[in-house]
Parts: sequence; structure tokens; C-alpha cells
Amino acid sequence: MKDALGSVGSVLVLGGSSEIGVAIAGVLAAPRSATVILAGRNGERLASAARGVATAGAGRVETLDFDALQTSTHDDVIEQAAALAGGDLDVIVVAFGLLGDQARDEAGGTGALDVATVNYVGAVSAGLASARVLRRQGHGTIVALSSVAGERVRRANFVYGSSKAGMDTFFQGLSDSLVATGVSVLVVRPGFVVGRMTEGMRPAPMATTPEAVAAATLSGLQSGRSIVWVPGQLRLVMAVMRHLPRVVWRKVPS
Ligand SMILES: NC(=O)c1ccc[n+]([C@@H]2O[C@H](COP(=O)([O-])OP(=O)(O)OC[C@H]3O[C@@H](n4cnc5c(N)ncnc54)[C@H](OP(=O)(O)O)[C@@H]3O)[C@@H](O)[C@H]2O)c1
Repeated sequence: MKDALGSVGSVLVLGGSSEIGVAIAGVLAAPRSATVILAGRNGERLASAARGVATAGAGRVETLDFDALQTSTHDDVIEQAAALAGGDLDVIVVAFGLLGDQARDEAGGTGALDVATVNYVGAVSAGLASARVLRRQGHGTIVALSSVAGERVRRANFVYGSSKAGMDTFFQGLSDSLVATGVSVLVVRPGFVVGRMTEGMRPAPMATTPEAVAAATLSGLQSGRSIVWVPGQLRLVMAVMRHLPRVVWRKVPS
């Protein structure tokens, strides 16, 4: 349960090895040495993430198997996480995601479907399963890692962008469905984040870091916001960009 100052006692990260997810878990856990449960595809990356969260100040770190594609397991995973946390989850971070390789995926193969399924179908399934547990508790917040790429889909990455647009609007609707239940949703829309997902890519203007996304998420939770852009100026930039004529927009470089 959150304490009187709003500090959290337990955090679940779905996509537990995500660099951004781990950074968020660290800043949320540190004030009260909270329990952190990292749910992800088991392996060295999950173990390394667990060490990172412990170093950041979590009091207890647990790991659970979670695959976004195994939708029939999602209710169970979240119930197990709640039990590991002693009954209650204060924050659930939906951090899993695939960027894909648009040029390769347009040429063939299953890559585009993997991106769409993990980022949208997986998020719908995990989002609803999370909401069921938090609604029963009567409190808690879902943090959904969306992306500026979903605000207006670009020719260069429309598969990823459209999957993020779908998950973003899903979580906005979920948020509306949870009004007056004690449960809230925070949609976080980072721009280009320098890290593993974008390794080898040229940083876009206003590129940010997992730590900056974590700081903005903490601030968004403390102020009760429903949407956070990182960096904040992206909100204004995209307010202009979304009205550019298509003929101009499709020439915006990747
Ligand atoms: N990096 C950016 O520029 C950026 C910008 C805006 C939004 N975002 C979003 O922020 C979120 C976190 O990204 P990140 O930067 O932290 O990238 P990351 O470090 O590459 O994390 C992605 C996570 O997704 C997990 N994942 C992928 N497929 C999965 C599946 N089928 N089941 C379970 N987990 C799966 C990965 O697990 P494994 O370790 O097992 O592969 C990893 O934990 C993503 O949703 C991403 O779309 C990222």
C-alpha cells in the first residue's frame, strides 16, 4: 500500500528486463525499499535487471516468468505477483515492447506480426488482467509505456507506430473505465530513448534516457497526471506535427 506521502510499497514490471521499466522500478522503490517483481522472459537479462533494481534501492526483488504472447497466462502471472507482494500491488508497469525492423519486416517474414501482437494484443491482455487485480484491491496505478511514435505514425516505422497508437488509445479507454474505482492509469509517451532498443540508431532530436523517463513517470504519478510526454516539450512539437499535411509528413526523415 502507498504510505501517507504516496510512496509505493510494491511494483510489478511486465517486461521485467526493460531498461526503462527497470529505471522506473528503481525510482519508485527507493524511498521505502519497496518490493519489486520483475516479470519477463527468464534469462540473464532478467537476472541482471533484478541486480540493478536491488542496487537502486528495492528492499526485495522477485522474478516471475512472463511472455506477452502467452495471453492465457496473464491473469495467473499478475495474481502470483500480487501474492508475492503480500496481497497488494501499488504500481504495475507495462514495459514490454518490440521495435522490429521496418524495412526487413515489410519485405516478408513474421516480424511485423510479432511487433503488432506483442505491443498491442499483449498490452490489451496484460492491461485488462492488471485492471482486474487492481480493481479488486480498490487501489493502484498502471503505468503504460506508450511512445511518441504512436501520436502520428511515420512512413519509416508505421508497424511499430501503429501498434503503439493502438496500445496508447487502449490504455486511455481503460483509464476512463476505471474512474471512481480507486485505480488509475498513467500513459507515458517517450520520444527516442537512448538504450538497448535503439542501439545503433542515430538519436532523434530531443532524445532522452531511461533515467529521464523514470523521473518524469515519478513526477506524473505524484501529480496525478494521466499522460506524460518525455521530454515534456514533445507535447507541443507533436501538437504542430500532427497537423502537417500528409505530403509533408511522409517526407519527415526517420
Ligand atoms: N527505447 C525507446 O526509444 C522507446 C521510446 C518510446 C517508448 N518505448 C517503449 O518503452 C518500452 C520499454 O522499452 P525499452 O527502451 O526499455 O526497451 P528494452 O530494454 O528493449 O525492453 C523491451 C522489453 O520488452 C520485452 N519483451 C519483448 N517481447 C516480449 C515478450 N514476448 N514477452 C515479454 N517481454 C517481452 C523484452 O524482454 P527480453 O529482454 O526478454 O527481450 C524487454 O524486457 C517498450 O514498450 C517500448 O516500446 C521505448
